[in-house]
Amino acid sequence: MGKAAVTITIACAAATCAAVAAAFFVNRRLRQRTSWKRAQCIVDEFRGGCSTPLSRLRQIVDNMVVEMHAGLAIDGGSKLKMVLSYVDNLPTGNEEGLFYALDLGGTNFRVLRVQMGGKEKRIMNQEYKEVSIPPKVMVGSNEDLFDFIATELASFVASEGEGFFLLPGQQRELGFTFSFPVKQTSINSGTLMKWTKGFAIAETVGKDVVEELQGAMHRSNVDMRVAALVNDTVGTLAGGRYEDDDVMVAVILGTGSNACYVERADAIPKWRGPLPASGSMVINMEWGSFTSAHLPKTEVDDALDADSVNPCDQIFEKMISGMYLGDIVRRVLWKLAAEAAFFGGKVPSRLEVPFILRTPDVSAIHADQSPDLKEVIRVLRVVFGIQSSTLQMRKVIMDVCDIVAERGARLAGAGIVGILKKIGRDGGSLANNGGLENHSYAATEERKKTVVAMDGGLYEHYPKFREYLKQSVVELIGKEAAEHIELRLSKDGSGIGATLLAASHSSFVAEQE
Ligand code: BGC
Repeated sequence: MGKAAVTITIACAAATCAAVAAAFFVNRRLRQRTSWKRAQCIVDEFRGGCSTPLSRLRQIVDNMVVEMHAGLAIDGGSKLKMVLSYVDNLPTGNEEGLFYALDLGGTNFRVLRVQMGGKEKRIMNQEYKEVSIPPKVMVGSNEDLFDFIATELASFVASEGEGFFLLPGQQRELGFTFSFPVKQTSINSGTLMKWTKGFAIAETVGKDVVEELQGAMHRSNVDMRVAALVNDTVGTLAGGRYEDDDVMVAVILGTGSNACYVERADAIPKWRGPLPASGSMVINMEWGSFTSAHLPKTEVDDALDADSVNPCDQIFEKMISGMYLGDIVRRVLWKLAAEAAFFGGKVPSRLEVPFILRTPDVSAIHADQSPDLKEVIRVLRVVFGIQSSTLQMRKVIMDVCDIVAERGARLAGAGIVGILKKIGRDGGSLANNGGLENHSYAATEERKKTVVAMDGGLYEHYPKFREYLKQSVVELIGKEAAEHIELRLSKDGSGIGATLLAASHSSFVAEQE
């Protein structure tokens, strides 16, 4: 081949290469643009599905009130269990003596002891120990779970030292905070209806959990009587009331979620006993199982529910509580990866792992104010093993966290307003009570201050969630009425509350009376 021909051939090859490269880049840009558009569509669609305009929140409030009435009328009348707690007297400050509590409700449990000194000396001393429950115990056998707890309790009792003393003739007594749906049969007995929050020990369902605990304590040589069985919401209410008489409602927003409140005993048709002297009783709503056609549920929620250990159950809890918010975000990110190649051609494998993204990470992302969103970079790297991302992508991720947290918080706010409305503390007109029987209550109590004791890691450690929640309450009841409502962080009140309830239901106290 002549020189000229070689030159022409090389020139042609170079031109072809350039054309191929150009086509490749154009194609890639087109693909990227299409993926980006698809990603935006996915997020917009999700945002739409999660939206909680005021009109929708109002419908949820009304549904909550209707369901509360139905659950109070008859057992099984509503998805809201409205469990009678048998707590008809809340702490007064007179409680005296040494009392223990055991707080089981999540992946950790706590044992604590409190020395109470009556009106004058109040809480004189307290100590606690926190133990994490091995995951295999959460889904193992009934006996293993209760033996594990009793063994830890035994070692804690053995460490009782200075500053703690029983009153003469007093036996050690315990308040058992058991934060799962229980059909309570007295102040210190109740059968487990179902597990929540990832616990799954079939044998325990239908059993009296106090008997199970007493049995295990016996096996571990712990000489102690269970004086009160309480839900964590009820413990929180009791702890809050010890400090302030205006506490009427308690809400937990942690791994799980629930609320309880003080109800007029004559507004509880399913209560069969004599009316308590106090005229009221604490109702454990078990609001995690609330559901309503107005809940802004998306296909992501449906998939999470279907894959959970308790499908079709705890629908409200799955939209508002700490156990699930992170996984909702993960599922949306997965969809972005799978359907819009958000993280490149392949779906990063760790995005497939259920519950790998925890709500504290979502909170950290949400709080990130650095210009290049460092927290998002950290979470992507540490949690998902994703090493590179653009600022634009990180903004989308933050947006997803915002959508999920805002929805959860506003729904929880609507739940709280539902309770306030039911007890006539929402500051609304009489008509606000929907023609239901709390009219006179509303009329007389309308302007009283109401404190809602709030506890749980989600509420405590997620500032944006807290803001959204408070904002929704103000939107729903108006600024003026909201001035009479205080949402007060009542940190770890449920353990102390359980010891206080053990004290007020102590057999020793009864003998003295
Ligand atoms: C349980 C409730 C509990 C709440 C908060 C829910 O999953 O059903 O009994 O109060 O979690 O711990």
